[in-house]
Amino acid sequence: MKLGLTGRHALVTGGSKGIGYAIAAELLAEGASVAICARTPDEVAAAVKSLSEVDGSPVSGHVCDVTSADAVEALVAAVAAEHGGIDVLVNNAGGAHPGGFEDLTDEDWKADLDVKLFSQIRCTRAALPHLRRSAAPRVINVNAVYARYPDPTFFATSVNRAACHNLTKVLAQQYGPEGILVNSVNIGFVVTPQWANIRARRAPELSEEAFFAKLAAQEVPLGRFGTVDEVSGLVAFLAGDRASYITGASIDVAGGMGKFS
Ligand SMILES: NC(=O)c1ccc[n+]([C@@H]2O[C@H](COP(=O)([O-])OP(=O)(O)OC[C@H]3O[C@@H](n4cnc5c(N)ncnc54)[C@H](OP(=O)(O)O)[C@@H]3O)[C@@H](O)[C@H]2O)c1
Repeated sequence: MKLGLTGRHALVTGGSKGIGYAIAAELLAEGASVAICARTPDEVAAAVKSLSEVDGSPVSGHVCDVTSADAVEALVAAVAAEHGGIDVLVNNAGGAHPGGFEDLTDEDWKADLDVKLFSQIRCTRAALPHLRRSAAPRVINVNAVYARYPDPTFFATSVNRAACHNLTKVLAQQYGPEGILVNSVNIGFVVTPQWANIRARRAPELSEEAFFAKLAAQEVPLGRFGTVDEVSGLVAFLAGDRASYITGASIDVAGGMGKFS
């Protein structure tokens, strides 16, 4: 299947590792030019170096904290100038904020909302003028199944991803008439670096393998964690021409996880 991404310009937030890195690699392999951002300079540089080895278009790396409105404005301006526009915005940066309801302070809540919801709002708002100039504009928000399947062990994520989920839906309605397509890809359990921290906090006595197996047995009908490649293909599809009639969709990549209709 030809996705029609050759010559398109994509910005992937949180593209230095994990799911974002896989998405960047997939878009590059499909012929898009790609800019990534993250906060850790060494990791951004290392990611750009290895992404440059993917057979594809140019890639650039930017150190940016998506919780800073000024930094996001500067990032989007720099990427658009360097790549000649932005056709595809992948709002992927984020992580799981630990803590149960009685542990989470107001500051924790604000920080989690900032990196999840407000980063998607800020990046989308900043990218809008560029998306409006694109022949095939796309926004893809990487969210979580917990948006519709709340779980107190991922308390802040469950609450804040619900807001991200509706952000996708209302953006799709607002900008559909302009041809800007906005979709949500909801992750269940996918093996990435953030899980090393979660395991260390919740089950330091278990090996990573045993921890993943235990969680998957409890929650995932397919009985295993997913891989980043099982996410990136869907994101590339949604970014491409074959997804031209899909907007406001909320698609789970979760091995069947989530007891909801
Ligand atoms: N893996 C899962 O099972 C899972 C489940 C549900 C949802 N998700 C969501 O999927 C997305 C990707 O997760 P992942 O598992 O790939 O995580 P990851 O391996 O920890 O990677 C997260 C990426 O986001 C960047 N990032 C984090 N905070 C940032 C900030 N404030 N500004 C800019 N970049 C930032 C990180 O780099 P720096 O730290 O250097 O900034 C890194 O590049 C996240 O939004 C996550 O919440 C993942």
